Amino acid sequence: MQTLKDKVILITGANRGIGKSLVKASLEKGARKIYATSRDLNKMPNFGDYRVVSLELDITDKTQISRVLKKATDVEVLINNAGILSQGNILEGELIGMENDMKVNYYGTINMMRAFVPILESNSSSARIINMVSIAAYSPLPFIAGYAASKAALLSATQAVRIELAKKGIIVHSVNPGAIDTDMNKGSEWDMPAPDEIAKIILDKVEAGELDIVPDDMRLGMYNTWREDPSKLAEMFHNMYHGEQ
Ligand SMILES: NC(=O)c1ccc[n+]([C@@H]2O[C@H](COP(=O)([O-])OP(=O)(O)OC[C@H]3O[C@@H](n4cnc5c(N)ncnc54)[C@H](OP(=O)(O)O)[C@@H]3O)[C@@H](O)[C@H]2O)c1
Repeated sequence: MQTLKDKVILITGANRGIGKSLVKASLEKGARKIYATSRDLNKMPNFGDYRVVSLELDITDKTQISRVLKKATDVEVLINNAGILSQGNILEGELIGMENDMKVNYYGTINMMRAFVPILESNSSSARIINMVSIAAYSPLPFIAGYAASKAALLSATQAVRIELAKKGIIVHSVNPGAIDTDMNKGSEWDMPAPDEIAKIILDKVEAGELDIVPDDMRLGMYNTWREDPSKLAEMFHNMYHGEQ
């Protein structure tokens, strides 16, 4: 089903990483218009397509959200991609990092959903919210424990909103990748898929109607392990953390 063809899509954090790739993948899917938002428009790449409209947006700033809301009154698909990751474990990590992860990944995304639901409701009978969560929401890795907690909170909020909006015809997806080759993983030695490849898979799975999407094969294995028995994924992460095979 070509769910995204001719749709008006708003993507947060669209200047780099997965957000930038989602803009390109949305263009390929035939979107009518894409609001590509970024905290700093000087960082926005030129997508070379008249359908891309760039807007300034920090998702933690309610004044900026209201400003975008007034300009983007025709949005039908909201992609909450913007996010940050602070390194650190629970016992010794910087609390400020954990607070920031929560402020952007959880409260920032909630700000966006609250602001845009009335518009989504009035613009389309098949509107969508697509939230970028993470496989870390299902079980934490201690060196990114604050990030994992913020994504677990976001997964919960995503599932709650899915139920809240079910009768309003707005479909709510969670996207739960593992490590992707973006700035977020700069310096990592892991073998990671490229964001362009992952963005295409995400949109294919949205169009296929998958609600909880795991776009990379390796993490799909982890997700299936979690579905079988959550303690098995926790054990895998324990072994990864302690360097055991
Ligand atoms: N890469 C991965 O391995 C991975 C795995 C699972 C989930 N995810 C999730 O996927 C999403 C995109 O990640 P990525 O890998 O593309 O990360 P990235 O390359 O670090 O890009 C993050 C994007 O979010 C923006 N952003 C950060 N704080 C913001 C705020 N307060 N308001 C608006 N925009 C903000 C950044 O803008 P600036 O350029 O201004 O900083 C940037 O555009 C995130 O939600 C991330 O948690 C990533």
